[in-house]
Amino acid sequence: MERQPIIAANWKMNKTVKEAEEFMKKVAGRVPATERVQAILGSPALFLHSLVEEAEKNQIALAAQNCYHEDEGAFTGENSPKALHDLGVDYVIIGHSERREYFKETDEEINLKAKAIFRNQMLPIICCGESLEQYEAGETKEWVAEQVRKALEGLSEEEITQTVIAYEPIWAIGTGKTSSAEEANATIKEIRATIAQVASSEVADKVRILYGGSVKPANIKEFMAQSDIDGALVGGASLEADSYIALLEGAF
Ligand code: 13P
Repeated sequence: MERQPIIAANWKMNKTVKEAEEFMKKVAGRVPATERVQAILGSPALFLHSLVEEAEKNQIALAAQNCYHEDEGAFTGENSPKALHDLGVDYVIIGHSERREYFKETDEEINLKAKAIFRNQMLPIICCGESLEQYEAGETKEWVAEQVRKALEGLSEEEITQTVIAYEPIWAIGTGKTSSAEEANATIKEIRATIAQVASSEVADKVRILYGGSVKPANIKEFMAQSDIDGALVGGASLEADSYIALLEGAF
């Protein structure tokens, strides 16, 4: 099954609007065609508006890093999925381990957010991953499968087909440590098997599943060479334009 690779930048809470615009100028005209790789840029919500035009010109899909699960209303400080879609945002990253840990995002909330994202014609990038303790206790596959099962609950087969999953072992995020490509692939296979159970093997075959955690231009090829890894969700190494372009070029 040929799945279109994805390289998704997760800028987290970095850059200013001006720095984001400078990044866009530096990548302009250098992004590989979408037939080879889908470039996604997960920017802070504050800059999405100023990036949308250039992103479109360069075939970069924009992602928000979070949204609320209601479309609008009295929810002070939250980002509306309806407004994100209206702005031209294509994807929303949900369930990142930093949001689960620091902002106490639960599996139930992540599931509600996934539904809100589809309701507003965007696609979710659902993150999952185990802690170092869970990894060392050999609990990775069970834990991750459960996170995925809960996140996808109640979604239609068509919605699941379009969902992007990002497997990010928490101990590999921003630490310079990566899971070995083989080990990441084995966990991602387990995620695919879980999707086959909750939907079907045809659906599971089509879902793009990314690896995340200290991915950089020097190791992207190792991950892409694996049977079930369809791309990467990248933090640190996505902040510099040259590095982002090198990651995109490493994905095919
Ligand atoms: P790093 O690439 O900086 O390890 O971050 C990974 C990540 O959390 C992407 O969402």
